[in-house]
Amino acid sequence: MLEPASVMRDAGMQPDAWQEAVLNSDSRRMLLLCSRQSGKSTTCASLAVHQALYDPGLVLLIAPAQRQSSELFRKVREVYTALPDVPRIVQESALRMELANGSRIIALPGTEGTIRGYSGARTVIIDEASRVDDALFAAVRPMLATTQGRFVALTTPYGKRGWFYESWEHGEGWRRTKITAHDCPRIDPEWLAEERRLIGDWQYRQEYMCEFVDTDEQFFASDLIEAALCHEVAPLWS
Ligand SMILES: Nc1ncnc2c1ncn2[C@@H]1O[C@H](COP(=O)(O)OP(=O)(O)O)[C@@H](O)[C@H]1O
Ligand SMILES: [Mg+2]
Repeated sequence: MLEPASVMRDAGMQPDAWQEAVLNSDSRRMLLLCSRQSGKSTTCASLAVHQALYDPGLVLLIAPAQRQSSELFRKVREVYTALPDVPRIVQESALRMELANGSRIIALPGTEGTIRGYSGARTVIIDEASRVDDALFAAVRPMLATTQGRFVALTTPYGKRGWFYESWEHGEGWRRTKITAHDCPRIDPEWLAEERRLIGDWQYRQEYMCEFVDTDEQFFASDLIEAALCHEVAPLWS
């Protein structure tokens, strides 16, 4: 059996140290908080392929919108077709492929209803996870319980809210990986400085420095709201 990081190598890429560590980890619960363009989708595409090759079953790729999960699926397909001597693809479309060994890899939109139709997934990968609804996360968890399945959420931050933020900050049992743009050898520091000028400091911190900055939609900063709350006062109506 090929080690998971070798799947990426055989597909023609030398994994970064963190990519290798994530791929070869046997953790069943992983959170990847990574800069844009750091290579998180590529890593998870290789992970999906390894799963489908060596532990045949269902692999689900989920993202807030179908367009995003099909983008991840495209990467899975790229990795798969770059590998020599793999099982035949017996059926495929822009959103799914089925292998001769019985594995299925399916890209879904991040709507709770669609997910409920699938059970017994071996691996669930959620891209752009900070932007996926809490209801979806709740729907995915029981699905994994029966198969001891693996769950990987990858994303840039999106404000101090939602299950990804909560799990990253307070959750137990997660393997966490944080990779800023400075940690990625393929992101040129000069290009990054220019990008910072273009998009502004707030967005730069979110997209490239992996900071959970407050969202641009909220009127009050999270710290202010937090400071205004008090647990000693009983609610007027229960
Ligand atoms: N270890 C690597 N070696 C070479 N290229 C890589 C590596 N990891 C990722 N890439 C390339 O970097 C680009 C960004 O990767 P991607 O996985 O889409 O990043 P992200 O999902 O973090 O935005 C892609 O063109 C991908 O092929
Ligand atoms: Mg990506």
